[in-house]
Amino acid sequence: MSQYWSKLVHNLDPYVPGEQPKDQRYIKLNTNECPYPPSPNALAAIHAAADERLRLYPDPNADELKDAIADYYKVQRANIFVGNGSDEVLAHVFQGLLKHDAPLLYPDISYSFYPVYANLYQINAQQIPLREDFRVCLGDYAVDNGGIIFPNPNAPTSMALGLDTIEALLQTHAESVVVVDEAYVDFGAQTAIPLIDKYPNLLVVQTFSKSRSLAGLRVGFAVGHPDLINALERVKNSFNSYPLGRMAIAGAAAAMRDKAYFEDTCQKIIATREMTVQSLTEMGFSVLPSAANFVFARPPAGNAESLYLALKQRGVLVRYFNKPRINEYLRITIGTDEEMATFLSVLAEL
Ligand SMILES: Cc1ncc(COP(=O)(O)O)c(C=O)c1O
Repeated sequence: MSQYWSKLVHNLDPYVPGEQPKDQRYIKLNTNECPYPPSPNALAAIHAAADERLRLYPDPNADELKDAIADYYKVQRANIFVGNGSDEVLAHVFQGLLKHDAPLLYPDISYSFYPVYANLYQINAQQIPLREDFRVCLGDYAVDNGGIIFPNPNAPTSMALGLDTIEALLQTHAESVVVVDEAYVDFGAQTAIPLIDKYPNLLVVQTFSKSRSLAGLRVGFAVGHPDLINALERVKNSFNSYPLGRMAIAGAAAAMRDKAYFEDTCQKIIATREMTVQSLTEMGFSVLPSAANFVFARPPAGNAESLYLALKQRGVLVRYFNKPRINEYLRITIGTDEEMATFLSVLAEL
């Protein structure tokens, strides 16, 4: 607290990221990072971009990256917005597209940055409770609103909605922007990007941090109608014209072009997830159906917090949320087969 702070700063309730220990002692299953390295092509492109051209500003429009994304998804460059991690993209979305008189709607159990942005940008927001079984029921969003946002698959529950359900929501709420946050979509859900031509109110947000193993590079993007993209460009160019450096643009573009490596990484994680779910279920955990690179699991004795602490003591980090309704669950990121074998054997001992 300081007399120099603005009123806004006094009232902020900042996001708390998962632990990032400085030592290498831990098996890190707590922040949904990818256990495999980035595409070798991405690393080569990053190295190649680190030359004397660093004295120059990067391309403010990041056209090379937008073109790589547009090629991959068969859309136009004008449909793409890029930013410094999907968190920054989401921040601009909240400010530029979701701040209206009617309340912004999002699930009560969902990505914990949403309430933080709503507070930062003073957005009138209303949380819609998940159903008892943790399903997002889009019928519950049938209230007057100034926008809707939800992750698909949801985090931390890992459960996904089908495209038909999302399409029905887009039809019902043609007057509002509907944002689908697809941070985890590549691990088993269907992207809504093919719907952008039909629905000018749809914005899809994705990241390079999970399925493309580039959390450390900080790159995210949004895909939607050019009118929505223009709003985001206007906010971005009123905030920071160069959110992505030369290395980030080159590395992310190369990762997007390396489809074979990306597909192989996702397949490995999905296979390890299925093995992990089976082992946890055999140990008596109840595991929600996962379409993500993590699982949300309730230990048989409901002792999630003490298990989280005991695992940490033995060198395995998972995520525990001390919040109503989910405080008996652990969120466990899928690591390599070896990491998961160690995790499961420590768990069995405990
Ligand atoms: C649902 C969801 N959206 C967005 C993000 C932000 O990802 P990034 O800023 O690394 O692109 C995360 C990160 O964990 C997430 O879980």
